[in-house]
Amino acid sequence: MLTNERHLFDVPSDIAYFNTAYFGPRLHSVNDAAISAVGLTARPWDVESDLFFDPVDRLREGVATALGGDADGVAMIPGVSYGASTAARNLIVGEGRTVVILAEQFPSNVYPWRRKVDAEGGEIVTVPRSLDGWTPGVLDAIDSRTAVVSVPHCHWTDGSVVDLVAVGAKARSVGAALCVDASQSFGALPLDVTEVQPDFLYTVGYKWQLGFYGLGYLWVAEEHRVGIPLEESWAGRKDASDFARLVDYSDSYEGGSRRFDVAERSNFIGVAIGNAAMAQINAWGVGEIAETLRMRTEAIAQGVAAHGWVAAPDNQRSPHLIGIRQPNGLPASVRESFADARVSVSVRGDSIRVSLHLHTSDEDIERLLAVLAVV
Ligand SMILES: Cc1ncc(COP(=O)(O)O)c(C=O)c1O
Repeated sequence: MLTNERHLFDVPSDIAYFNTAYFGPRLHSVNDAAISAVGLTARPWDVESDLFFDPVDRLREGVATALGGDADGVAMIPGVSYGASTAARNLIVGEGRTVVILAEQFPSNVYPWRRKVDAEGGEIVTVPRSLDGWTPGVLDAIDSRTAVVSVPHCHWTDGSVVDLVAVGAKARSVGAALCVDASQSFGALPLDVTEVQPDFLYTVGYKWQLGFYGLGYLWVAEEHRVGIPLEESWAGRKDASDFARLVDYSDSYEGGSRRFDVAERSNFIGVAIGNAAMAQINAWGVGEIAETLRMRTEAIAQGVAAHGWVAAPDNQRSPHLIGIRQPNGLPASVRESFADARVSVSVRGDSIRVSLHLHTSDEDIERLLAVLAVV
């Protein structure tokens, strides 16, 4: 259990922030890294050529540590639609085959698959919400027609979880690929790529990852690291670090997943922020983060039940992110009441999404419950 981490966050006490699923809270160490990176870019004479490469490789290591994977498998991407489009470019769906997704899945992990099935004559299979949770429906939807299963680790609207180990095993049993959007889980909900065995896993960097808006991460299974990137950047080519010889064009790529890196992935400010964030996440440990957040999320779920609000059942719930609903729909005044009380949550569909982090105090939880008691 982690205690007293609030001093590490730049979150003032007048706001009760329950919105990491929208935008991660800012760490002081991230602020410091950002300021010094801005300073560096103001002094281009100090930007040595190794600064184009070493910090990015350190970030690959930080991300890989939190995923239980190898740093070579990590690529830098600007966002999830880029990661999903990279996956779609390198997988085959084909005529009459299917791509399995969840109902109301985040659009960045839907549109690339829609284009893919349109181009190849396949079909999207959408798993509906069910009282039993997502996993039984996803397992049922996977059959001999399935080419790709492309799902999140937990649903972005309410945190209801998908058992990725079971889904991955079923996908492999029919020869289908598994793609995972980990934006609402990576950094807060443990996931080990050696257990789940995704083909492609992509995530933003600015939510539970506490990093930079515009720099996300892609992890690619070894067999796909020979694939075709969305763009042909110079930095992904062999011997790119030899700036004097860049026009001795190379037909081969740097190793691992580096070929999938977005253009200008050396992104000095974003990478510095990502490194500071991943260093802190790995110092805490994703398992410890999850266990600590679970205690607080449970306290919230119990507290809101007393005022007639309903959360997903225990066995479908995430430790870090829950959606709460009223049986008769959301009261009209809900947004205004939260804004007046300076309690930050998100309204997604007919649920209020409550997503906390290690800065969340008992007093914040009391403020949240006080609003829910009167709306
Ligand atoms: C599950 C999920 N995936 C992806 C994104 C963002 O996608 P992109 O990086 O393509 O903007 C979000 C943003 O809220 C999200 O909740």
